Amino acid sequence: MKQKIGLLGFGTVGRGISEILRDKKDYLNKKYGFEYDIVAVADFAFGNVYNPNGLDIPLMLEQAGNKEKFTKDLTNMETLDLVKNSNVSVWCELTFTDLNTGGPAIDHVKTALSAGKHVVTSNKGPAALLYPEMKKLADENGVKFMIEGTVCAGTPVINLTDGPLAGCEISKISGILNGTTNYMLTEMEKGMSYDEVLKIAQEKGYAEADPTGDVEGYDARGKVTILANIVMDAGIKITDVPCQGITNITPDDIDFAKKQGKRWKLIGSVEKRDGKIHTSVAPEMVDVSHPLAGVMGATNALTFATDMLGDVTIVGPGAGKIETGFSILTDLLYVHRNS
Ligand SMILES: NC(=O)c1ccc[n+]([C@@H]2O[C@H](COP(=O)([O-])OP(=O)(O)OC[C@H]3O[C@@H](n4cnc5c(N)ncnc54)[C@H](OP(=O)(O)O)[C@@H]3O)[C@@H](O)[C@H]2O)c1
Repeated sequence: MKQKIGLLGFGTVGRGISEILRDKKDYLNKKYGFEYDIVAVADFAFGNVYNPNGLDIPLMLEQAGNKEKFTKDLTNMETLDLVKNSNVSVWCELTFTDLNTGGPAIDHVKTALSAGKHVVTSNKGPAALLYPEMKKLADENGVKFMIEGTVCAGTPVINLTDGPLAGCEISKISGILNGTTNYMLTEMEKGMSYDEVLKIAQEKGYAEADPTGDVEGYDARGKVTILANIVMDAGIKITDVPCQGITNITPDDIDFAKKQGKRWKLIGSVEKRDGKIHTSVAPEMVDVSHPLAGVMGATNALTFATDMLGDVTIVGPGAGKIETGFSILTDLLYVHRNS
């Protein structure tokens, strides 16, 4: 069946997946029999467009790249009307993450699933705040709710536990879930203060003007919640995860760790212990011999403690246009294979 794809949000990730789908159309068809059209896009900045037979993606990428509004296939349909009443079979929710309320993404996802449309998303809001509810809604409507991109962008994490690691019992997942803070800790080891490093991270575009979500650990906490609920069926709320960021780490702390052959990392973890699930986000001194200690810069990494393979560590990008776009592709392919 030819998938009719819709995009909610045409920012970095929306454009990343659009470029991938534009450039790999023949390959994806030949290799996986995956046929598709992007038929709808709803974006605050560029407008709502709909063409049941397929949009002019090269033109839209050019216009968005020039910060111009869309001009072709414009529709008067409001976003939720488009979500419900277009011929889209799978919606990609790629608007901004709001870890307090979920933002408009919650309505987007609920409306799509209720209308019998699959949802693929890299938006942590619906996944961290309401995963069990969204999954139930998807199951009731016979569609998929896929969220690989919410943790470590396209680096396989969620689908890894469900696919290649299925059958292994996972007792602990721990690692570096936030690239911005890992970059900052890496640079602080070179002798700079927290404030100096934060300024550079903001100049390089790693940290936002308001860095709170990263440096206080809230972004990592959202990801820990997702992992706890999906991999370990923990049934926890985001506020149940104890959370401490890196704002209090000083150059003295960095020196202290170095002298002991250790290195500070902001570690998010989920562990099954004594019949309970324990979660946390906090800076930890990791021995330099541990695989996570060698992960420097804006990279993410997770170690899975398994009963049959021992520790399995995966290292890869945690952000980026194509890197996160790939997470959307991988979930689209899953939907294609399983629907
Ligand atoms: N970028 C990454 O590397 C990365 C990695 C992992 C996960 N993610 C997640 O993926 C999602 C997309 O990220 P992004 O980097 O692509 O964000 P982005 O560049 O900010 O793009 C989001 C787009 O959605 C539009 N938008 C906002 N609210 C909307 C609404 N209610 N309806 C329609 N469009 C709306 C925005 O328009 P305005 O600009 O006018 O608001 C913007 O064009 C986010 O949830 C993010 O946390 C991103």
